[in-house]
Amino acid sequence: MKHIKIFDTTLRDGEQSPGCSMNLREKIEMAKQLEKLNVDIMEAGFAASSPGDFNSVKTIAETMKSCTVASLARAMQGDIDKAYEAVKGAVSPRIHTFIATSPIHMEYKLQMSPDAVMDSAEAMVKYAKKYVSDIEFSAEDSTRSEIDFLAKIFDRVIKAGATTINIPDTVGYTTPDEYYDFLMAIRDKCPALDNVDISVHCHNDLGLSVANSLAAVRAGATQLECTVNGIGERAGNASLEEIVMALKTRKDIYQADSRIVTTEIMRTSKLLTRITGVGVQPNKAIVGENAFAHEAGIHQDGVLKNKETYEIMTPESIGITEKSLVLGKHSGKSALRARIKELGYDINDEELEVAFAKFKDIADKKKQVYDSDIEAILTKETVKVPRIYTLDRFVINSGNTITATAVVSIFKGDKKIEKVARGDGPINASFNAIEKIVNRKFHLEDYKLSSVTEGTDALGDATVAISEEVEGDQKPIITRGRGLSPDVVQASIIAYINAVNKLLYEEEQNRILNGEQQD
Ligand code: KIV
Ligand code: ZN
Repeated sequence: MKHIKIFDTTLRDGEQSPGCSMNLREKIEMAKQLEKLNVDIMEAGFAASSPGDFNSVKTIAETMKSCTVASLARAMQGDIDKAYEAVKGAVSPRIHTFIATSPIHMEYKLQMSPDAVMDSAEAMVKYAKKYVSDIEFSAEDSTRSEIDFLAKIFDRVIKAGATTINIPDTVGYTTPDEYYDFLMAIRDKCPALDNVDISVHCHNDLGLSVANSLAAVRAGATQLECTVNGIGERAGNASLEEIVMALKTRKDIYQADSRIVTTEIMRTSKLLTRITGVGVQPNKAIVGENAFAHEAGIHQDGVLKNKETYEIMTPESIGITEKSLVLGKHSGKSALRARIKELGYDINDEELEVAFAKFKDIADKKKQVYDSDIEAILTKETVKVPRIYTLDRFVINSGNTITATAVVSIFKGDKKIEKVARGDGPINASFNAIEKIVNRKFHLEDYKLSSVTEGTDALGDATVAISEEVEGDQKPIITRGRGLSPDVVQASIIAYINAVNKLLYEEEQNRILNGEQQD
């Protein structure tokens, strides 16, 4: 059985996509979960792209205990220097350098001749090799590049020290049959590829990224680049969970497997959703809400008689556990701690205190507390981000014949501040009241409300994304907050306050970081 290395780029290509940006703490939390999932390589970011990215790659590199940590770098000395500075503290550091090789990219984007691109690729791989032994080279837009040119450039960068050659479908243009033939043709023209890892990185513009990645395995690829939930530029990257489960389920075809701990898949997917607020569609393969739901009577009957009639893999294999009633309002802190541990989470005493307060609040209002409720309250953002503002109380006056009014009272430290505001509905009125209290204007980027479990007493799960008002073409900070409560207005208010706390915290962190950079 061939081992396929899983190169996760959730924190780089994934994080680049709209709505998926994460702050440092969120990236670290995600990175730790990716290590539990047992990815072979984690691309932690693009160190040269910003001081924030540099800092997160460096911190992740120093935190990971076993997996390889990579930073992306253009084929430029400055980028490679930054990438090395960021990953050098890793147990196993990798520099991933790239340059575009398609005629259209070379002519219009790079404005470089093919010879100059080839020279630059070779020189930069040599340069990076001074720093680390593990070098990945990517020929951006490979699938629209000329095979002879790719074969030559790969030959040169392999001689210069590249240990992994990535042949990406940057624009999601190829098809499985074409990609297979293309990769086989390159291997034929560049025998040196047999001595390195061949990697593929497929985008999903035509919905073929996973199929293309699997075709690449048949053509000899030994590393697949992918992201959790398939997030990434435009239509996203190949989805990690789909690739991994396809390899596992169809070993008979691929004669290959990954080292991913598949029972961590669902938890990883949910964590990403929780952090970014970007969910997956219900019918998404593997991790969608309906991926294991059998609705049709004939199907249900079959599954009851023998699961394999309609199930090609088990929900347990990706870490879905039976919905179980675990705790009630009389359960104590140690019972909650024990259950959290059983669910596979590691929390410290301070985090347990916060989780327990939330649990009590929910258990008081809700008859039944399920595992999914407990997992929902385990967001670490409320623990780590200083809670400058906290909700005291609110009163809403709303109806279909009046303008909604909200009275919101919030603590800032010991001080209670109360404001009244009107709005288009109770949620808008509450948000307006919070803005008055904080005395700032925010832009509402996104608002989502869903329920954690079923039933009329289900927990409402609100996510709010806000951004600061900025001048000119400055990039605004966008933060997300989450709130949970059986009362959806309360969940929304808590989410908004959490987003505000995070935004203030991020602004403060940026000020510190900029100050440090200037020193
Ligand atoms: O899509 C792409 O080609 C990339 C490269 C930088 C690997 O993300
Ligand atoms: Zn990409």
